[in-house]
Amino acid sequence: MTDTAKFADSPLDPRARAVADELHARSRRQIARGALPMLGKMIRTRVRDGSWDPTETDDGKRWLADKLVALDPSKAALCYLLCRSLGARRVVEAGTSFGVSTIYLASAIRDNLAASGGSGEVIGTEHEPAKVAAARQNLDSAGLGEFVDIREGDLRETLLALDEPVDFMLIDIWIPMALPALEVVADRLRPGALVVCDNVVSGRREYRDYLRYVRDPHGLFQSVTVPGQGGLEISMRR
Ligand SMILES: C[S@@+](CC[C@H](N)C(=O)[O-])C[C@H]1O[C@@H](n2cnc3c(N)ncnc32)[C@H](O)[C@@H]1O
Repeated sequence: MTDTAKFADSPLDPRARAVADELHARSRRQIARGALPMLGKMIRTRVRDGSWDPTETDDGKRWLADKLVALDPSKAALCYLLCRSLGARRVVEAGTSFGVSTIYLASAIRDNLAASGGSGEVIGTEHEPAKVAAARQNLDSAGLGEFVDIREGDLRETLLALDEPVDFMLIDIWIPMALPALEVVADRLRPGALVVCDNVVSGRREYRDYLRYVRDPHGLFQSVTVPGQGGLEISMRR
């Protein structure tokens, strides 16, 4: 019997994969180096404010301002596959950072267009100007710049102007922004569109408003929670 690899291979082409793999590794190093000092700050925040969320404190915001905090490779590959399966043409990404997940989403758009023609793009958004510049450079290095429109600024402004229909949305954003991001885009999602939101199991307390919204049996979405690595909520627009 042959040995089977622990994870399926990356869906990216070699050029995009080289860029993405380097960024995933950099993101992991940043988290590993910052984990202990950050944990100390998080414990202080928990005691003081009752929240673990470092995006809510000045210390945390300063530390996170130049960090990638990239989506896990398996979750990013899942997003690629979902976009391919949906034949997605218009994808919205709340939280672009250095563009790691954007590389997977833009690859899916490019591959969908190659398979059946037409036009499409990923609309990313990021409020740290230095991250926007880095993301644009990374997308160009990956050969995917032409499939991406990265909008600089607060997503509550940058996502207001969107053409319809949106086929897929990735929410990989500081937690308090998750529900506002979805509320801005919800009406542009076509029936059957999917919304993937990261870390809803590890952060379920902080995500409670978001989860209540997507799990409302009378609401706009039907939802499933995928456990593991912090968890993912995958919600389908009814
Ligand atoms: C978890 S990171 C995104 C990682 C990215 N998806 C990836 O895989 O590389 C979240 C990003 O959202 C950005 N962000 C947070 N609040 C925002 C807001 N209100 N508008 C736009 N971007 C925001 C942060 O600066 C951060 O870079």
